Amino acid sequence: RNYTISVIPGDGIGKEVMPEGIRVLERAASLYGFTIAQKWQDFACCDYYAKHGQMMPDDWKAQIGKPDAIFFGAVGWPNTVPDHVSLWGSLLQFRREYDQYVNLRPVRLMPGVPCPLVGREPGDIDFWVVRENTEGEYSSVGGKMFPGTDREIVIQETVMTRHGTDRVLRYAFDLAATRDRKHVTSATKSNGIAITMPWWDERVEEMAKNYPTVTHDKYHIDILTAQFVLNPDRFDVVVASNLFGDILSDLGPACTGTIGVAPSGNINPDGTHPSLFEPVHGSAPDIAGKGIANPVGQIWSAAMMLEHLGEADAAAAIMRAVETVLAEPGLRTGDLKGKANTEQCGKAIADALT
Ligand code: NAI
Ligand code: MG
Repeated sequence: RNYTISVIPGDGIGKEVMPEGIRVLERAASLYGFTIAQKWQDFACCDYYAKHGQMMPDDWKAQIGKPDAIFFGAVGWPNTVPDHVSLWGSLLQFRREYDQYVNLRPVRLMPGVPCPLVGREPGDIDFWVVRENTEGEYSSVGGKMFPGTDREIVIQETVMTRHGTDRVLRYAFDLAATRDRKHVTSATKSNGIAITMPWWDERVEEMAKNYPTVTHDKYHIDILTAQFVLNPDRFDVVVASNLFGDILSDLGPACTGTIGVAPSGNINPDGTHPSLFEPVHGSAPDIAGKGIANPVGQIWSAAMMLEHLGEADAAAAIMRAVETVLAEPGLRTGDLKGKANTEQCGKAIADALT
């Protein structure tokens, strides 16, 4: 098995954690008998913007070509480029142009990571957030009238399509069907948002009919956020619209400790375009350049990428190595009260791989 990946480190600590992700990927490839060819790209970062006045070349799609996946670090350097410019000029282009309609994030309490929720042990918190990633509340339909006057009006419409909604619901139910608990929770707000959200609920009911072995329920988004904190053991697969999923997919990892370990996938399940795997965290300008960032988010993203490529054994091996290292205080980074730097932690995980 031979894979080609596009490697885009981006900005700040993205450049520091990416080599550790690659180190672990290469070790996994040699142990599990496949190859990973890497095509590194210097765009989608603020250094590129400084030279060219835009985040990516006009022919970025041609330059990326047809890799099996994209492995991404983090983008953003707010001192030189405003965040909405750097994000819309790079990551959001990938999500939309490559129709990565699922944003997938595990919420799992790992050994060695202090849980901010009192009394929770590893095993208590283990679920997935499935966020709709291409439509919904994040639409460009709307406008502004009478700007700067006291008659000013701003409107931004939510756009939900049957195609776009059903495909993300199908992904969530398919995922739940592979899990022990086989349960889907839908995030709604059909009491207040009286057109789109009751319709979302109907689509959930329709989809559920195809999955007799999967149970499902729904919560309004406000109480759902409270349940994430109070009863995280209730959840198995949580599916949500773009805005609700955005909120839940930051809240979930926060409930399990540091964002330095959390990974994510921006997935095109149809396989017509490459999917993109990246840590949840950003470029962390406050610690960039010191070599102390936690590489686990990047390394766990590598495991998600291998799972997506069909290398499930190698992915599981990486997760075992991550758990081994996180359980060892001397091998953790400073955000987890450890003493290791980025490279030492990455090397320890590569060495623990079997
Ligand atoms: P951030 O995630 O970069 O940092 C938040 C806090 O967490 C900081 O104190 C940072 O030091 C710490 N932190 C983050 N990752 C860490 C790691 N691996 N190890 C140890 N500590 C870690 O979020 P922030 O500060 O809001 O954004 C900084 C820049 O990153 C902005 O330009 C923002 O737009 C961008 N960003 C990019 C994302 C992406 O590429 N997907 C996601 C989030 C933010
Ligand atoms: Mg977010």
